[in-house]
Amino acid sequence: MTAETEAFRFSEFGAPDVLRWQPHTLPDPAAGEIQIRHLAIGVNYIDVYHRRGVFAAPLALPSGLGVEGVGTITALGEGVTGFAIGQRVAYVGGPPGAYATFRNLPAGRALAVPASLDSTEVAAMAFKGLTVEYLIHRCVPVASSDTVLFHAAAGGVGSIACQWLRQIGATVIGTVSSAKKAQVALANGCKHVIIYTEEDFQARVAEITGGKGVDVAYDSVGAETFTKSLDCLRPRGTLVSFGESSGPIPPLSVASLGAKGSLYVTRPSIAHYTANRAEYEAAARNLFAAMEAGVLRASGVTTYALSDARKAHEDLEARRTTGSVVLVP
Ligand SMILES: NC(=O)c1ccc[n+]([C@@H]2O[C@H](COP(=O)([O-])OP(=O)(O)OC[C@H]3O[C@@H](n4cnc5c(N)ncnc54)[C@H](OP(=O)(O)O)[C@@H]3O)[C@@H](O)[C@H]2O)c1
Repeated sequence: MTAETEAFRFSEFGAPDVLRWQPHTLPDPAAGEIQIRHLAIGVNYIDVYHRRGVFAAPLALPSGLGVEGVGTITALGEGVTGFAIGQRVAYVGGPPGAYATFRNLPAGRALAVPASLDSTEVAAMAFKGLTVEYLIHRCVPVASSDTVLFHAAAGGVGSIACQWLRQIGATVIGTVSSAKKAQVALANGCKHVIIYTEEDFQARVAEITGGKGVDVAYDSVGAETFTKSLDCLRPRGTLVSFGESSGPIPPLSVASLGAKGSLYVTRPSIAHYTANRAEYEAAARNLFAAMEAGVLRASGVTTYALSDARKAHEDLEARRTTGSVVLVP
């Protein structure tokens, strides 16, 4: 079904004002695609990287933006089975283009949403929750006996990670930039919180662990934390470098990992952990079950009108947000 949509698109990389709100006519969904009308759209830090053009393989321009949404199916492309018009679905990944009232999407990215879950809550938790699912269950399966360092613990991914790690029983040391964010991180399950803009987090981790170091460090901050995160690990500990909110990580000498204690470093992406449909569905079942059981709550979601997406980006980049950010059409 041809649909009139409004969408943010951009034709040059840069600050939030490169985003242009444009009406356009959406073609019928192609074979293997579904068309959806969005109910809620998740904002993720990857959208900032896409908009700035800082990825190794930047998007081809002009482009849409956004990799996560919840919506109602309005049309099915040829050959699509297993979905019905009127059904509510969520998705993570696919070509950027979530900042839109309507969009077409490969059916392989769509996930049925349990009726009990609210659309805004799912948009707040799908991309970030599936990230946490693979980070703590599959990339490094965290055990109850583990002590974990998690940076940006009051952010979107961080808030979900702390809740899920608390349920596992791990001891979580979170870092945040302010006292207000420290309260959020503690409420989400951190046992210790370090305000890393005021304290040396490496020294504090050494103090908290009695000099042993942590089993796993999850670092999405990048430039400002990467090297010290390595130095927070116990011998044979693992650094999971999964983002660069503060800028690109410095070069790493593999030989230094031996000298620092036979350390492991990995650089995972949700794309590789959800590419296989069976793994993607299993991860989503795991996430939705944790949400339905109340293990994970989308507490403190900040919502903006979809047309205010530029403002949402400004706030996210200025570290003004806690928890997830959601756009509502
Ligand atoms: N590899 C993957 O599969 C994957 C998937 C999803 C997300 N990620 C990464 O996970 C991270 C979190 O994503 P999110 O969407 O949930 O964002 P977010 O955590 O809500 O926002 C980013 C947070 O990073 C912290 N930060 C530290 N230095 C910063 C700086 N110079 N500029 C901006 N923020 C800074 C801020 O927390 P404080 O103010 O407390 O420092 C900020 O709130 C991002 O780096 C993202 O790229 C990776």
